[in-house]
Amino acid sequence: MSVRDDAITAHGGGELSDLKAPQSERAALKAHAASLPSVALGARDLSDLEMLASGAFSPLTGFMGEADYTRSRDEMRLANGVPWSIPITLAVNEPAAQSLKPGIDVALRTEAGQPLAILKLAEIYKVDRAREAEAVFGTAEDKHPGAKNVTSMPPYCLAGRVILFEEVPGRSFLEYRLEPRQTRAAFRERGWKKIVAFQTRNPTHRAHEHIQKSALEICDGLLLHPLVGETKSDDVPAAVRMETYKVLLELYYPKNRAMLSVMPAHMRYGGPREAILHALVRRNYGCTHFIVGRDHAGVGNYYGTYDAQKIFDRFQPGEMGITPLTFENSFYCRKCNSMASFKTCPHSDDDRLILSGTKVREMLRAGQAPPPEFTRPELAAILIRAMREQN
Ligand code: ADX
Repeated sequence: MSVRDDAITAHGGGELSDLKAPQSERAALKAHAASLPSVALGARDLSDLEMLASGAFSPLTGFMGEADYTRSRDEMRLANGVPWSIPITLAVNEPAAQSLKPGIDVALRTEAGQPLAILKLAEIYKVDRAREAEAVFGTAEDKHPGAKNVTSMPPYCLAGRVILFEEVPGRSFLEYRLEPRQTRAAFRERGWKKIVAFQTRNPTHRAHEHIQKSALEICDGLLLHPLVGETKSDDVPAAVRMETYKVLLELYYPKNRAMLSVMPAHMRYGGPREAILHALVRRNYGCTHFIVGRDHAGVGNYYGTYDAQKIFDRFQPGEMGITPLTFENSFYCRKCNSMASFKTCPHSDDDRLILSGTKVREMLRAGQAPPPEFTRPELAAILIRAMREQN
């Protein structure tokens, strides 16, 4: 094992989980699955399954049991004490829960009926989804998209180890869909030791670029790591965002310093709690540093601007195993004549170019590019075209 591998263990301190069956066993497992009771997985479950199977959710080896669920909900830790801020459950309705018994094997399939994996059913337990939403999101309101997703899940959970014998279907951006072992190998190949990850669910604006490049000044490489699982309907679709990321890297980043890869997770809009999950998952992808800017993974006014930064103080640096790099609200300042932040710019809001997401969407919809100091023109053109095609 190289020095680097030693330095970046998986989250929890062990090896990356690998829930994929060896090729030689897949046919037999598939045949076995055909004889089992089965449970259908929705889009968000499939995304969790892919994260679990690839090791991105290490040290988890399947959907959470009750002890991990309760402690992660109440204390942001797994039962063994390892930090984990958002429960990962497989929800089923009451008839399904009553028809199954711990100790049996269950086939996990798509809604269209394609079997993908076997769940070694260890536990069936019932949870209070409103309480879970309150704990994770600070609200159980339907207005909060993450809370709504949780409270609409049935209360019964199936837990146990998962063995995948078929790749999750419908995966997009295959060329860029590197799993944790593959990103680690890619970093090794490039000789990067300090790697900073950037989570994003939005097209890249100059503020994003500013904090990415500021972080890159003190790291060897940047992993631009957009989340491409389900997002809320008014977020820019992943396919459009991917176009902007590719163009940005091509035109404005040195090839040997930045890398684009997608993360199949779905967005929870969990603000601080999701920032912790985003960070520990990036450790599994082999990153040493993680960018947390303003209102990370936030939605509406549910979280304070820097709550997602402060929450890292609740953990010892060693237990996270990845260093948060925190950034103040960034913008272009006309007086500074550069990108700046509240930390570095002494001027007033009148001198600063600060546009809300709603305002930017309005402009793009009207075919109007935001100022180049806000969005690079090449990227604005992609976004305007996509808006036109949508309408
Ligand atoms: S997120 O839901 O994935 O956090 P987004 O893609 O907008 O949304 O943000 C990606 C990262 O950039 C997050 O860490 C966020 O806090 C940070 N960020 C976004 N805009 C700014 C800004 N203007 N100033 C500082 N940080 C920002």
